[in-house]
Parts: sequence; C-alpha cells; structure tokens
Amino acid sequence: MKQPIGIIDSGVGGLTVAKEIIRQLPNEQIIYLGDNARCPYGPRTKEEVRAFTWQLTEFLLAKKIKMLIIACNTATAAALEDIKKNVPIPVLGVIQPGARAAIKNSSNLNIGVIGTVGTVKSGAYPDALKSINDQVSVKSIACPKFVPIVESGEYSGALVKKVVAESLAPFKGSGIDTLILGCTHYPLLGPLISSTMGKGVKVISSGDETARETSAILEYKGLLNDQNEKPEHYFYTTGSRDMFHRIASSWLQKDLQHVYSIKLN
Ligand code: DGL
Repeated sequence: MKQPIGIIDSGVGGLTVAKEIIRQLPNEQIIYLGDNARCPYGPRTKEEVRAFTWQLTEFLLAKKIKMLIIACNTATAAALEDIKKNVPIPVLGVIQPGARAAIKNSSNLNIGVIGTVGTVKSGAYPDALKSINDQVSVKSIACPKFVPIVESGEYSGALVKKVVAESLAPFKGSGIDTLILGCTHYPLLGPLISSTMGKGVKVISSGDETARETSAILEYKGLLNDQNEKPEHYFYTTGSRDMFHRIASSWLQKDLQHVYSIKLN
C-alpha cells in the first residue's frame, strides 16, 4: 500500500526513529511532523502533552497516513493508549520497543533509563521493563538539559560535555550494564553519552527496534508498499524551517527538499 507512514515528535528527536525507518523500509514514504515551536514537552503536564499529541496526530491523519509512530517518549507515556483506542490505523510508541531492546541486551538485568521529567515521572519504562521481566532492576534519571541542547543544533563542545557528565554522574557505581535513551532527542548526543558511560555500558536507543516493529506490523496487516521506488519524504515543523532543515539534513545526511513550516490551531 502506497500511503505514507506518519511520524511525530515534539521537535527533531523523532528524526532518530525516522532515520532507522527510512533505512529498514526504503520503499516506504515518511511524513514527519515536529512541534518545535512548543518543544520541550518534557516539563509539561500530561494533559497538555496529550492535547498537543492529538493535534499532531490529526494533522497527519488528514494526510492519509496508514500508520502512526509516536516517536517521542514523553508523548508515548502521556497519550499512546488514548490515541491507539481512537484512531482507525495502527499506532506504535517508542517505549515498549526500547524496553524490549534493553532486556535483550542486558545480562545482569540492571538497567538505567534517562528521559525527560515527564517520562521519568510517568514510570512508563519501569512498568514496560517489569512487564517483560519482573526480575529487572531499574534506575531512572531525568536529564532536562539535553533536549534544549539538541534543539539548538550545537551538540558538541566543552560545555555540552560537562552537562552530559554531570547529568549522568548519578549512575556511577550503580552497576547498570545497559542504558536506555528514553528520549528520542538523546541519540543525537549518543557518542558523548556512550563515552561518558564507558565501555561496560551498552547504550540503547529505541529507533532500531521501533523500525523493526513497524515493519512487522505493516507486514502482518498487509500494508507494506510492494512497489520498488524511491519515495519523497515530507517534513513539517511548527518552528523555524531553516533550523529544522539544518538539523534534519545533517542527521539524515541528505539535503532535504521537502521541509515546511506550518501552524497548528
Ligand atoms: N523527544 C521527546 C521524547 O522522546 C521529548 C523531548 C521534549 O520535548 O521534552 O521524550
């Protein structure tokens, strides 16, 4: 089926998931919407995040998407169940896939999670991890400084390194062997996070597993695009087109042609 897959996030973070979907499902067209104007979602109330997530969803439903990926942990924690129940297409969040990937990797079942204040407060990761294996021990830490760094497009340098080191310091001596990047913005700081955690800790982002699950769901539902063609992807932002274009083109390693700034009402 030729209809596009819709991907939403509070900003550029969901591009880390989009990149994996484009890589694993090269025949599928993507329509992406980032709510950069209202980013970050992390410090907002659950009700507000849920309302914003519905607005993003409705924008993409009007574009006739065949599946929706909520590529934002904060929005997944606040709105996935509600949206899943009320839209006529398959909807996938990023928390369950991230939890599955972490359990698969961990040998001591001692797992760390970093995310936004909203995600950590929701307890969604410990719940998802324990629903897979109740022996797991989870240490979660909110890193509210990371998203503004990523959205600024400047994610290297001494100051950023210091912020990352300070934010991750509470994991020292915790014995975790796996760290879940429980926010889709964080893989853009991935190399820095990995080097700060050191060799003994495997850093997991949900993009890879989410793309695999997307493919499985589309296949199961008979929704895969079986035409062998190079689709044009479309990117929408509620924020600055130029800023989004710069970050997205660099992350996806392609000079993106279809990037538009829109207003949601
Ligand atoms: N990328 C989002 C997440 O995965 C949220 C970042 C934010 O808006 O605070 O949680």
